[in-house]
Amino acid sequence: MSNQEMDAARAREFAGHFLGLMNGAAIAQLTSIGHQTGLLDTLGRLKPSTSVQIARAAGLNERYVREWLNGMVVGRIVEYAARTGRYSLPAEHAACLTRAAGLKNMATMSLFFPMLGTVEPRVIKSFRQGGGVPYSAYRGFQKLMAERSAQRQDHLLLSKTLPAVGIVDRLKRGIDVADIGCGSGHAINLMAAAFPNSRFTGYDFAADGIRAARAESRRLKARNTRFEVMDTAQLPDGRRFDFVTAFDAIHDQAEPRRVLANISRLLRDGGLFLMVDTAGTSRVENDMDDPLAIFKYTVSVMHCMTVSLALGGEGLGTMWGKEKALELLKEAGFGKVAVQQIEGDVLNSYYIARKK
Ligand SMILES: C[S@@+](CC[C@H](N)C(=O)[O-])C[C@H]1O[C@@H](n2cnc3c(N)ncnc32)[C@H](O)[C@@H]1O
Repeated sequence: MSNQEMDAARAREFAGHFLGLMNGAAIAQLTSIGHQTGLLDTLGRLKPSTSVQIARAAGLNERYVREWLNGMVVGRIVEYAARTGRYSLPAEHAACLTRAAGLKNMATMSLFFPMLGTVEPRVIKSFRQGGGVPYSAYRGFQKLMAERSAQRQDHLLLSKTLPAVGIVDRLKRGIDVADIGCGSGHAINLMAAAFPNSRFTGYDFAADGIRAARAESRRLKARNTRFEVMDTAQLPDGRRFDFVTAFDAIHDQAEPRRVLANISRLLRDGGLFLMVDTAGTSRVENDMDDPLAIFKYTVSVMHCMTVSLALGGEGLGTMWGKEKALELLKEAGFGKVAVQQIEGDVLNSYYIARKK
Protein backbone atom coordinates (compact mmCIF):
# COMPACT_ATOMS: atom_id res chain seq x y z
CA MET A 1 0.00 0.00 0.00
CA SER A 2 1.50 3.42 -0.89
CA ASN A 3 1.49 6.34 1.56
CA GLN A 4 -1.27 8.07 -0.45
CA GLU A 5 -3.63 5.19 0.13
CA MET A 6 -2.92 5.07 3.86
CA ASP A 7 -5.74 6.08 6.19
CA ALA A 8 -3.99 8.81 8.22
CA ALA A 9 -6.54 8.77 11.05
CA ARG A 10 -6.15 5.02 11.44
CA ALA A 11 -2.36 5.38 11.46
CA ARG A 12 -2.56 8.04 14.21
CA GLU A 13 -4.92 5.88 16.22
CA PHE A 14 -2.61 2.89 15.87
CA ALA A 15 0.43 4.94 16.89
CA GLY A 16 -1.43 5.96 20.06
CA HIS A 17 -2.41 2.36 20.74
CA PHE A 18 1.19 1.22 20.28
CA LEU A 19 2.58 3.96 22.52
CA GLY A 20 0.18 2.79 25.23
CA LEU A 21 1.52 -0.75 24.87
CA MET A 22 5.13 0.46 25.11
CA ASN A 23 4.39 2.53 28.21
CA GLY A 24 2.71 -0.53 29.72
CA ALA A 25 5.81 -2.58 29.00
CA ALA A 26 7.99 0.09 30.63
CA ILE A 27 5.85 0.19 33.76
CA ALA A 28 6.23 -3.58 34.07
CA GLN A 29 9.97 -3.05 34.59
CA LEU A 30 9.42 -0.43 37.32
CA THR A 31 6.74 -2.60 38.94
CA SER A 32 9.11 -5.56 39.08
CA ILE A 33 11.69 -3.38 40.83
CA GLY A 34 9.02 -2.02 43.16
CA HIS A 35 8.01 -5.55 44.14
CA GLN A 36 11.54 -6.90 44.55
CA THR A 37 12.84 -3.96 46.58
CA GLY A 38 9.70 -3.86 48.74
CA LEU A 39 9.04 -0.26 47.64
CA LEU A 40 5.43 -0.98 46.71
CA ASP A 41 4.83 -2.59 50.12
CA THR A 42 6.53 0.35 51.86
CA LEU A 43 4.33 2.82 49.99
CA GLY A 44 1.30 0.72 50.88
CA ARG A 45 2.11 1.16 54.58
CA LEU A 46 3.19 4.82 54.65
CA LYS A 47 1.09 7.94 54.75
CA PRO A 48 1.99 10.48 52.01
CA SER A 49 5.79 10.91 52.29
CA THR A 50 8.78 12.53 50.63
CA SER A 51 11.25 10.51 48.62
CA VAL A 52 13.74 10.83 51.51
CA GLN A 53 11.24 9.36 53.97
CA ILE A 54 10.25 6.57 51.56
CA ALA A 55 13.86 5.68 50.81
CA ARG A 56 14.66 5.59 54.52
CA ALA A 57 11.63 3.40 55.32
CA ALA A 58 12.56 0.98 52.53
CA GLY A 59 16.29 1.04 53.32
CA LEU A 60 17.16 2.14 49.76
CA ASN A 61 19.16 4.81 47.94
CA GLU A 62 17.12 8.04 47.72
CA ARG A 63 18.21 9.04 44.21
CA TYR A 64 17.06 5.70 42.76
CA VAL A 65 13.87 5.77 44.77
CA ARG A 66 13.02 9.31 43.57
CA GLU A 67 13.52 8.43 39.90
CA TRP A 68 11.44 5.27 40.35
CA LEU A 69 8.71 7.23 42.15
CA ASN A 70 8.54 9.79 39.34
CA GLY A 71 8.20 7.00 36.76
CA MET A 72 5.38 5.51 38.79
CA VAL A 73 3.75 8.95 39.07
CA VAL A 74 3.65 9.51 35.30
CA GLY A 75 2.47 5.88 35.02
CA ARG A 76 -0.53 6.94 37.17
CA ILE A 77 0.31 4.33 39.80
CA VAL A 78 1.75 6.57 42.53
CA GLU A 79 0.24 10.01 43.29
CA TYR A 80 2.35 13.12 43.83
CA ALA A 81 1.43 16.35 45.62
CA ALA A 82 3.78 18.96 44.09
CA ARG A 83 2.98 21.48 46.84
CA THR A 84 4.30 19.24 49.64
CA GLY A 85 6.65 17.04 47.59
CA ARG A 86 4.92 13.94 48.98
CA TYR A 87 4.18 10.67 47.20
CA SER A 88 1.43 8.18 48.00
CA LEU A 89 0.02 4.91 46.75
CA PRO A 90 -3.81 5.11 46.80
CA ALA A 91 -5.44 2.28 48.78
CA GLU A 92 -7.22 1.16 45.61
CA HIS A 93 -3.85 0.72 43.88
CA ALA A 94 -2.24 -0.94 46.91
CA ALA A 95 -5.12 -3.44 46.75
CA CYS A 96 -3.59 -5.02 43.64
CA LEU A 97 0.13 -4.16 43.90
CA THR A 98 1.33 -5.11 47.38
CA ARG A 99 2.08 -8.37 49.18
CA ALA A 100 -0.69 -7.49 51.63
CA ALA A 101 -3.12 -7.91 48.70
CA GLY A 102 -2.35 -11.65 48.65
CA LEU A 103 -3.98 -13.39 45.70
CA LYS A 104 -4.88 -10.01 44.17
CA ASN A 105 -1.26 -8.82 44.01
CA MET A 106 -0.69 -8.35 40.27
CA ALA A 107 2.83 -6.95 40.75
CA THR A 108 4.16 -10.52 40.66
CA MET A 109 3.15 -10.73 36.98
CA SER A 110 5.78 -8.12 36.17
CA LEU A 111 8.56 -10.41 37.46
CA PHE A 112 8.37 -12.52 34.30
CA PHE A 113 9.72 -9.83 31.98
CA PRO A 114 13.21 -9.30 33.45
CA MET A 115 13.63 -13.07 33.86
CA LEU A 116 12.49 -13.77 30.30
CA GLY A 117 14.59 -10.90 28.95
CA THR A 118 17.78 -12.72 29.95
CA VAL A 119 17.12 -15.48 27.37
CA GLU A 120 15.92 -13.19 24.56
CA PRO A 121 19.09 -13.63 22.43
CA ARG A 122 18.62 -17.41 22.57
CA VAL A 123 14.93 -17.13 21.69
CA ILE A 124 15.83 -14.97 18.68
CA LYS A 125 18.39 -17.56 17.65
CA SER A 126 15.63 -20.18 17.78
CA PHE A 127 13.44 -18.03 15.51
CA ARG A 128 16.25 -18.29 12.94
CA GLN A 129 17.42 -21.84 13.48
CA GLY A 130 14.50 -23.65 15.11
CA GLY A 131 14.93 -25.61 18.33
CA GLY A 132 14.40 -23.80 21.60
CA VAL A 133 15.83 -22.73 24.95
CA PRO A 134 16.11 -25.36 27.71
CA TYR A 135 14.58 -24.93 31.15
CA SER A 136 18.07 -24.78 32.66
CA ALA A 137 18.77 -21.47 30.85
CA TYR A 138 16.00 -19.62 32.75
CA ARG A 139 17.79 -18.52 35.89
CA GLY A 140 15.42 -17.84 38.76
CA PHE A 141 12.47 -19.56 37.06
CA GLN A 142 11.66 -21.97 39.92
CA LYS A 143 11.84 -19.16 42.50
CA LEU A 144 9.54 -16.93 40.46
CA MET A 145 7.06 -19.74 39.82
CA ALA A 146 7.12 -20.69 43.48
CA GLU A 147 6.19 -17.16 44.53
CA ARG A 148 3.49 -16.84 41.87
CA SER A 149 1.87 -20.20 42.50
CA ALA A 150 2.07 -19.96 46.32
CA GLN A 151 -0.01 -16.80 45.96
CA ARG A 152 -2.73 -18.85 44.23
CA GLN A 153 -2.38 -22.11 46.17
CA ASP A 154 -2.39 -20.46 49.63
CA HIS A 155 -5.68 -18.77 48.89
CA LEU A 156 -7.48 -21.30 46.71
CA LEU A 157 -6.20 -24.86 46.95
CA LEU A 158 -7.71 -26.02 50.24
CA SER A 159 -10.68 -23.68 50.40
CA LYS A 160 -11.93 -23.71 46.80
CA THR A 161 -10.07 -25.98 44.39
CA LEU A 162 -10.19 -29.30 46.26
CA PRO A 163 -13.86 -28.85 47.29
CA ALA A 164 -14.70 -28.07 43.63
CA VAL A 165 -12.97 -31.31 42.59
CA GLY A 166 -14.99 -33.22 45.21
CA ILE A 167 -11.97 -35.02 46.65
CA VAL A 168 -11.82 -33.66 50.21
CA ASP A 169 -13.52 -36.62 51.96
CA ARG A 170 -11.26 -39.12 50.23
CA LEU A 171 -8.19 -37.04 51.13
CA LYS A 172 -9.32 -37.02 54.76
CA ARG A 173 -9.76 -40.81 54.79
CA GLY A 174 -6.35 -41.41 53.16
CA ILE A 175 -5.38 -41.84 49.50
CA ASP A 176 -2.30 -41.74 47.28
CA VAL A 177 -1.73 -38.43 45.50
CA ALA A 178 0.83 -37.35 42.88
CA ASP A 179 1.62 -33.87 41.55
CA ILE A 180 3.13 -33.83 38.05
CA GLY A 181 5.62 -31.03 37.37
CA CYS A 182 5.39 -30.02 41.04
CA GLY A 183 8.07 -27.30 40.76
CA SER A 184 8.95 -26.18 44.30
CA GLY A 185 6.29 -28.47 45.72
CA HIS A 186 4.14 -26.02 47.64
CA ALA A 187 0.84 -27.57 46.52
CA ILE A 188 1.96 -31.00 47.76
CA ASN A 189 3.24 -29.57 51.04
CA LEU A 190 -0.01 -27.68 51.66
CA MET A 191 -2.14 -30.76 50.98
CA ALA A 192 0.14 -33.02 53.01
CA ALA A 193 -0.18 -30.77 56.07
CA ALA A 194 -3.97 -30.58 55.71
CA PHE A 195 -4.53 -34.31 55.08
CA PRO A 196 -2.16 -36.34 57.29
CA ASN A 197 -3.84 -39.68 56.42
CA SER A 198 -2.97 -39.33 52.71
CA ARG A 199 0.38 -39.91 51.01
CA PHE A 200 1.79 -37.34 48.58
CA THR A 201 4.44 -37.58 45.84
CA GLY A 202 5.77 -34.67 43.76
CA TYR A 203 7.60 -35.26 40.47
CA ASP A 204 9.66 -32.70 38.58
CA PHE A 205 12.79 -32.88 36.45
CA ALA A 206 14.10 -29.58 37.89
CA ALA A 207 16.53 -30.48 40.69
CA ASP A 208 16.38 -26.95 42.19
CA GLY A 209 12.57 -27.17 42.40
CA ILE A 210 12.74 -30.57 44.14
CA ARG A 211 15.39 -29.26 46.55
CA ALA A 212 13.10 -26.37 47.55
CA ALA A 213 10.15 -28.78 47.86
CA ARG A 214 12.06 -31.09 50.20
CA ALA A 215 13.31 -28.14 52.28
CA GLU A 216 9.76 -26.87 52.80
CA SER A 217 8.59 -30.38 53.65
CA ARG A 218 11.36 -30.69 56.27
CA ARG A 219 10.44 -27.28 57.72
CA LEU A 220 6.85 -28.48 58.08
CA LYS A 221 8.04 -31.78 59.60
CA ALA A 222 5.87 -33.65 57.10
CA ARG A 223 5.94 -37.46 57.24
CA ASN A 224 3.66 -38.11 54.28
CA THR A 225 5.53 -36.43 51.39
CA ARG A 226 8.08 -37.64 48.92
CA PHE A 227 9.67 -35.68 46.08
CA GLU A 228 11.48 -37.22 43.12
CA VAL A 229 13.58 -35.73 40.35
CA MET A 230 11.86 -37.42 37.43
CA ASP A 231 11.07 -36.86 33.78
CA THR A 232 7.30 -37.31 33.80
CA ALA A 233 7.44 -38.66 30.24
CA GLN A 234 9.31 -41.62 31.77
CA LEU A 235 7.18 -42.27 34.87
CA PRO A 236 7.73 -45.94 35.83
CA ASP A 237 4.84 -48.34 36.11
CA GLY A 238 5.31 -49.42 39.73
CA ARG A 239 3.17 -46.99 41.70
CA ARG A 240 -0.56 -46.25 41.62
CA PHE A 241 -2.46 -43.12 42.62
CA ASP A 242 -6.05 -42.16 43.43
CA PHE A 243 -5.66 -38.46 42.67
CA VAL A 244 -3.16 -36.81 40.31
CA THR A 245 -2.72 -33.07 39.91
CA ALA A 246 -0.81 -30.98 37.37
CA PHE A 247 -0.70 -27.26 38.04
CA ASP A 248 0.41 -25.30 35.00
CA ALA A 249 2.60 -28.21 33.97
CA ILE A 250 1.15 -29.92 30.90
CA HIS A 251 1.27 -27.35 28.11
CA ASP A 252 5.04 -26.86 28.33
CA GLN A 253 5.86 -30.58 28.30
CA ALA A 254 7.96 -31.87 25.42
CA GLU A 255 5.71 -34.94 25.21
CA PRO A 256 2.36 -33.91 26.67
CA ARG A 257 0.51 -36.87 25.12
CA ARG A 258 2.90 -39.35 26.68
CA VAL A 259 2.72 -37.61 30.07
CA LEU A 260 -1.10 -37.66 30.00
CA ALA A 261 -1.06 -41.34 29.00
CA ASN A 262 1.28 -42.03 31.94
CA ILE A 263 -1.09 -40.23 34.32
CA SER A 264 -4.01 -42.23 32.99
CA ARG A 265 -2.05 -45.47 33.41
CA LEU A 266 -0.98 -44.66 36.99
CA LEU A 267 -4.49 -43.76 38.17
CA ARG A 268 -6.42 -46.44 40.01
CA ASP A 269 -9.99 -47.20 38.96
CA GLY A 270 -12.23 -44.37 40.12
CA GLY A 271 -9.20 -42.07 40.20
CA LEU A 272 -9.32 -38.37 39.43
CA PHE A 273 -6.96 -36.15 37.49
CA LEU A 274 -7.02 -32.39 38.10
CA MET A 275 -5.27 -30.49 35.32
CA VAL A 276 -5.01 -26.76 36.01
CA ASP A 277 -3.80 -25.08 32.86
CA THR A 278 -3.83 -21.68 31.20
CA ALA A 279 -7.27 -20.65 29.97
CA GLY A 280 -7.45 -20.14 26.23
CA THR A 281 -9.74 -21.01 23.39
CA SER A 282 -7.33 -22.79 20.99
CA ARG A 283 -8.16 -20.13 18.37
CA VAL A 284 -6.43 -16.77 18.29
CA GLU A 285 -9.51 -15.07 16.84
CA ASN A 286 -11.43 -16.07 19.98
CA ASP A 287 -8.60 -15.02 22.32
CA MET A 288 -9.00 -11.36 21.32
CA ASP A 289 -11.35 -10.62 24.24
CA ASP A 290 -9.13 -12.29 26.85
CA PRO A 291 -7.67 -9.38 28.88
CA LEU A 292 -4.55 -11.46 29.62
CA ALA A 293 -3.99 -12.78 26.10
CA ILE A 294 -1.03 -10.52 25.28
CA PHE A 295 0.72 -11.55 28.49
CA LYS A 296 0.03 -15.24 27.89
CA TYR A 297 1.19 -15.29 24.25
CA THR A 298 4.34 -13.39 25.24
CA VAL A 299 5.17 -15.87 28.01
CA SER A 300 4.50 -18.66 25.51
CA VAL A 301 7.01 -17.34 22.95
CA MET A 302 9.58 -16.55 25.61
CA HIS A 303 9.17 -19.73 27.67
CA CYS A 304 6.38 -22.31 27.50
CA MET A 305 6.45 -23.16 23.78
CA THR A 306 10.19 -22.67 23.64
CA VAL A 307 11.22 -25.01 26.49
CA SER A 308 9.19 -27.77 24.84
CA LEU A 309 10.75 -27.16 21.41
CA ALA A 310 14.19 -27.20 23.05
CA LEU A 311 13.63 -30.90 23.76
CA GLY A 312 12.36 -31.57 20.24
CA GLY A 313 8.87 -31.47 21.78
CA GLU A 314 5.38 -30.68 20.56
CA GLY A 315 5.58 -26.99 21.52
CA LEU A 316 1.89 -26.67 22.40
CA GLY A 317 2.42 -23.20 23.85
CA THR A 318 0.67 -21.48 26.73
CA MET A 319 -2.45 -20.82 24.65
CA TRP A 320 -3.11 -24.40 23.50
CA GLY A 321 -6.56 -23.82 24.95
CA LYS A 322 -9.62 -25.80 25.90
CA GLU A 323 -10.30 -27.43 22.53
CA LYS A 324 -6.80 -28.89 22.25
CA ALA A 325 -6.68 -29.80 25.95
CA LEU A 326 -9.89 -31.82 25.70
CA GLU A 327 -8.60 -33.54 22.55
CA LEU A 328 -5.40 -34.64 24.33
CA LEU A 329 -7.22 -35.71 27.50
CA LYS A 330 -9.60 -37.85 25.44
CA GLU A 331 -6.71 -39.42 23.56
CA ALA A 332 -5.11 -40.33 26.93
CA GLY A 333 -8.25 -42.19 27.99
CA PHE A 334 -10.07 -39.54 30.00
CA GLY A 335 -13.62 -40.03 28.80
CA LYS A 336 -15.31 -37.66 31.23
CA VAL A 337 -13.90 -34.18 31.73
CA ALA A 338 -15.60 -31.28 33.51
CA VAL A 339 -14.08 -27.85 32.86
CA GLN A 340 -14.50 -25.20 35.55
CA GLN A 341 -13.24 -21.76 36.42
CA ILE A 342 -12.34 -21.11 40.06
CA GLU A 343 -13.23 -17.68 41.40
CA GLY A 344 -10.03 -15.76 42.13
CA ASP A 345 -7.98 -17.44 39.39
CA VAL A 346 -8.42 -15.51 36.15
CA LEU A 347 -5.45 -17.18 34.47
CA ASN A 348 -6.44 -20.85 34.44
CA SER A 349 -9.09 -23.39 33.58
CA TYR A 350 -9.63 -26.40 35.84
CA TYR A 351 -10.07 -29.74 34.06
CA ILE A 352 -11.46 -32.48 36.32
CA ALA A 353 -10.93 -35.71 34.44
CA ARG A 354 -11.96 -39.31 35.07
CA LYS A 355 -11.03 -42.42 33.22
CA LYS A 356 -13.78 -43.93 31.02
C1 LIG B 1 5.19 -23.72 34.81
S1 LIG B 1 6.01 -24.76 35.92
C2 LIG B 1 4.77 -25.11 37.14
C3 LIG B 1 5.35 -25.63 38.42
C4 LIG B 1 4.36 -25.88 39.56
N1 LIG B 1 3.40 -26.91 39.22
C5 LIG B 1 3.67 -24.60 39.96
O1 LIG B 1 2.45 -24.48 39.77
O2 LIG B 1 4.37 -23.71 40.46
C6 LIG B 1 6.09 -26.28 35.01
C7 LIG B 1 6.91 -27.33 35.74
O3 LIG B 1 6.89 -28.53 34.97
C8 LIG B 1 8.19 -29.11 35.02
N2 LIG B 1 8.35 -30.01 33.88
C9 LIG B 1 8.22 -29.71 32.56
N3 LIG B 1 8.44 -30.79 31.81
C10 LIG B 1 8.71 -31.82 32.67
C11 LIG B 1 9.03 -33.20 32.51
N4 LIG B 1 9.08 -33.77 31.31
N5 LIG B 1 9.23 -33.94 33.61
C12 LIG B 1 9.17 -33.39 34.85
N6 LIG B 1 8.88 -32.10 35.06
C13 LIG B 1 8.65 -31.31 33.98
C14 LIG B 1 9.13 -27.92 35.05
O4 LIG B 1 10.41 -28.23 35.56
C15 LIG B 1 8.36 -26.93 35.91
O5 LIG B 1 8.72 -27.05 37.27
